Amino acid sequence: MDATPGRPSNQELMLEEILSDALNQPVSGEVANYIPALAMVNPNHCGIAIATLDGEVHTAGDADIPFSIQSVSKIFGLVLAMGRMGDDLWHRVHMEPSGHAFNSIVQLEWEHGIPRNPFINAGAIVVADTLTSHYSASKAAMVNFVRSLANKDDIHINQDVYQSEKIHGNRNAALAYLMKSFANIESEVEDVLDHYFFQCSIEMSCRNLARSLGFLANRGMQPGTGDQICTRRDAHRVNAILSTSGMYDQSGEFAFTVGLPAKSGVGGGIVAVVPNYGVICAWSPRLNQFGNSCLGMSMITRLAEKLGLSVY
Ligand code: DON
Repeated sequence: MDATPGRPSNQELMLEEILSDALNQPVSGEVANYIPALAMVNPNHCGIAIATLDGEVHTAGDADIPFSIQSVSKIFGLVLAMGRMGDDLWHRVHMEPSGHAFNSIVQLEWEHGIPRNPFINAGAIVVADTLTSHYSASKAAMVNFVRSLANKDDIHINQDVYQSEKIHGNRNAALAYLMKSFANIESEVEDVLDHYFFQCSIEMSCRNLARSLGFLANRGMQPGTGDQICTRRDAHRVNAILSTSGMYDQSGEFAFTVGLPAKSGVGGGIVAVVPNYGVICAWSPRLNQFGNSCLGMSMITRLAEKLGLSVY
């Protein structure tokens, strides 16, 4: 035990220092505005949380403010789909890095409508298709899954973001219709996109996101409840694809400098899985050119260096 009641723990002091160093950096990056409702967020928010496997959560800054999880939701969708589809899923979406932007369409035609991986938009849309086919109410299944993982009932979607994604979702619609033309979308495109936009619009805090993904650091078993969320093999597979593709076109650099399976979202959140230790979640809305949070990257990099967390 390194904390007495009312006094910050050593971990919290370290997180405070990392947060304060991040906030002292020159401002860089831009809040995502291609989904106009996302641009309404205060760009100065910054928070970080570490949820360890023993059930402790250490935080600094805005770690309890819910934000739009966006592409981080692709992890939840993938875990649900792997449970439902088994290995058939991997005929519909592959597990290779794309080398292109997260919403790129060029590769998809050359590769006959099979997305490179489940973390680019096209791949997550195929995963959404499997969920709409396998669940009578896939959106409810998704939000209930997230609530049960976080052990919180008060996790909601942001209606403004949801509607904004629908109105400005032409690129995603193009991806979905192209895949439908290759028979890699089974349900109606509108239903699939509705599910996809819904899951991207879920809001969670750093604390709750870090807690919800503990099973990935714990061979598929959720710390605290002991529930087996996915098999050990699937936890290994999700972490492997996170390592190669979770940070999009910056996944190589992230592996090189940080060395953790991780996933970003254009809401400014990044989660990083530390096997056998816990999950880190950082949030700051300003993004670099790859769509990854500038300060989120820098805070996780510092933390991984300080604690020697790289898996390599
Ligand atoms: O579909 C989109 O473009 C967004 N709803 C999600 C993209 C995203 O978060 C990519 N992450 N860096």
